Amino acid sequence: MPGDLRFEIIEHGSETYLVGVRLRDEMLRNPMGVVTAEEDMATERALIHVAGFVGDALCATCVLVPEGRAVRMKRVAVAPSFQNEGIGTAMLRFCEAHAKGMGATKFYAHARETAVRFYEKAGYVGEGDYFDEVGIPHLVVRKAL
Ligand SMILES: CC(C)(COP(=O)(O)OP(=O)(O)OC[C@H]1O[C@@H](n2cnc3c(N)ncnc32)[C@H](O)[C@@H]1OP(=O)(O)O)[C@@H](O)C(=O)NCCC(=O)NCCS
Repeated sequence: MPGDLRFEIIEHGSETYLVGVRLRDEMLRNPMGVVTAEEDMATERALIHVAGFVGDALCATCVLVPEGRAVRMKRVAVAPSFQNEGIGTAMLRFCEAHAKGMGATKFYAHARETAVRFYEKAGYVGEGDYFDEVGIPHLVVRKAL
């Protein structure tokens, strides 16, 4: 893992937030022909935005959604040139700790089929059956905090 890796909660609408939106669009949405428009961003105002940095480079991003005693993690992306270095796992740990600090006891995500193994390696347990979300098979993956 890069020695100078750090994670921060970033402000919705900030320059860093826009860089994060671009990263997750490139990785998760653009392949399906979708772009996050300004009105989509407005719906994210109440969410918690997380960014990972190596030096000045934004290498990872995700969004946390508070839902009572649970927190859902969404839009998880690590930039291709930074993958397989433990950054995604470190971001999970940062988000779990942040959710715990908010008083949450449950943490979950809708994992794309291709990312389920990544979550399992970090201690998450799949629940139920695969279901379709935006045309891609997903599985609920959970972890008690
Ligand atoms: C999934 C993703 C976030 C993982 O981030 P990462 O920084 O590469 O993950 P890590 O380096 O922390 O990997 C941890 C472990 O999971 C494994 N892993 C990571 N991605 C994996 C994948 N897609 N399939 C299977 N195993 C995977 C790694 O090999 C590693 O295993 P090891 O501990 O035995 O070496 C990243 O690949 C990504 O952004 N993918 C594209 C977007 C995406 O699918 N997001 C998730 C949407 S639900």
